[in-house]
Amino acid sequence: MSRTPLITGNWKMHKTLAATRTLVAELDTAIDGVAGVDAAVAPPFTALETAVSALQGKSIAVGAQNMNEAEEGAFTGEISPVMLTDVGVSFVILGHSERRAIFGEDDELVGRKVRSALAHDLQPYLCCGETREQREANETIAVVRRQLQAGLDGIDAHRAAGIVVAYEPVWAIGTGLTATPEQAQAVHADIRALLAELFGGSTAAAMRIQYGGSVKPGNAAELMSQPDIDGALVGGASLDADSFAGIVRAVGS
Ligand code: PGA
Repeated sequence: MSRTPLITGNWKMHKTLAATRTLVAELDTAIDGVAGVDAAVAPPFTALETAVSALQGKSIAVGAQNMNEAEEGAFTGEISPVMLTDVGVSFVILGHSERRAIFGEDDELVGRKVRSALAHDLQPYLCCGETREQREANETIAVVRRQLQAGLDGIDAHRAAGIVVAYEPVWAIGTGLTATPEQAQAVHADIRALLAELFGGSTAAAMRIQYGGSVKPGNAAELMSQPDIDGALVGGASLDADSFAGIVRAVGS
């Protein structure tokens, strides 16, 4: 089963409208003609419409970084899946470690969001990953399995095939520390084994599992050469067109 690698820029809380227009235009030019790789960006909510309209008819997908699971209601400050599809985005990042650690999102809430995204035809990216303490206590696999089991609860194999799993060791996010390709591959292989238990081997073989955590142009190719690493969720290096395009080019052909 060959899976097209997927490189996604998670802009976090960065970029004004003017900066969004500049970055997506530069990116579109910089990765024009690169084959064998899918590219996507997740700007902040305020810039989604700008990014969607600037990338109309282009091959770079646009998604959100979070959403509330409800369609509407008295939830001050929240954004619903209906609003996201209305703006024209195609995917949503859910359960990012910053959402879990800073905003208190738990595994069950993330699962409700994943089910809601699927019900609204938004492609979920389900994030998982262990902290440094959990890795040192040999809990990596248990933590990742718990996060994924709750995040994928109640989903059938047919719907699961479109989900992207993002493995992001918390200790590697924004720190400059990257998991070695072997460390990352070991967890990715365990994740694919779990996906096979949940959804069967052929669905598991079709699902893309991204690595995230200090991915840069210089380390992307080696990480992506691992058999179960199907792309990257990129934070810091996605804020600059040259470095994000460098990652896309390192992975594509
Ligand atoms: P980083 O962030 O690339 O800056 O480490 C990755 C992420 O949080 O998705």
